[in-house]
Amino acid sequence: MSDNYTFNVEAVKLKRKVIAPYTVNGTPKDWNNTEAGNYRLTHPSNLWTDLTIPFWSMPENTDHPTQKPEKLVAKVILASSNPGDVIFDPFLGSGTTSVVAKKLGRQYFGVELDEMYACLTEKRLEIAETEPSIQGYSEGVFWERNTFKTQ
Ligand SMILES: C[S@@+](CC[C@H](N)C(=O)[O-])C[C@H]1O[C@@H](n2cnc3c(N)ncnc32)[C@H](O)[C@@H]1O
Repeated sequence: MSDNYTFNVEAVKLKRKVIAPYTVNGTPKDWNNTEAGNYRLTHPSNLWTDLTIPFWSMPENTDHPTQKPEKLVAKVILASSNPGDVIFDPFLGSGTTSVVAKKLGRQYFGVELDEMYACLTEKRLEIAETEPSIQGYSEGVFWERNTFKTQ
C-alpha cells in the first residue's frame, strides 16, 4: 500500500536439485556440483507447493488440528520482517508463529482463546530455547522436499 515495505526475497531462496545441468565451457551454469549432487539456488515461485502439514512423526507436531508447518511460517517471517521486528498473531493456535519468530530472532506476541493450545505454545517456546532448528530450512536456504537428508 506504500513504498515503505519489507520484502527480503534473498532470505527465502530454495535449494533445488538440478534436472538439466547446463554448462558453459565446461562450467556449471547457475548451479553447483557437490558430492551429494547438483543443486541450484532459486527464488521462490508465486505458488508455494514445497510444504506439508507437520506429520505426527515430525518433532514440531502437536495435537492442534490446523497447525501450520514451521517452514511455511518461516518463509513468511523471513520475507516480510527483519531481525528484532515484532510479530503478532491474533489466532496463535499451537504457537507456530511465535515459535518461528523466536527461532529467527524476532520479537513476538500472540492471542489464543483455548487454554490447552496456549499451553502447547508455552511448551514449544521452551523447547525452542535448546532446539532452534526449523525442519527444511538450513544454512540460510529452504531445501526442496526430501533432499536435505541426502546432504
Ligand atoms: C487456524 S488456528 C491457528 C493455527 C496456528 N497457525 C498453528 O500453527 O497452530 C486458529 C486458532 O485461533 C483460535 N481462536 C479463534 N477465535 C479466537 C479469538 N476470538 N481470539 C483468540 N483466539 C481465537 C482458535 O482456538 C485456534 O486455535
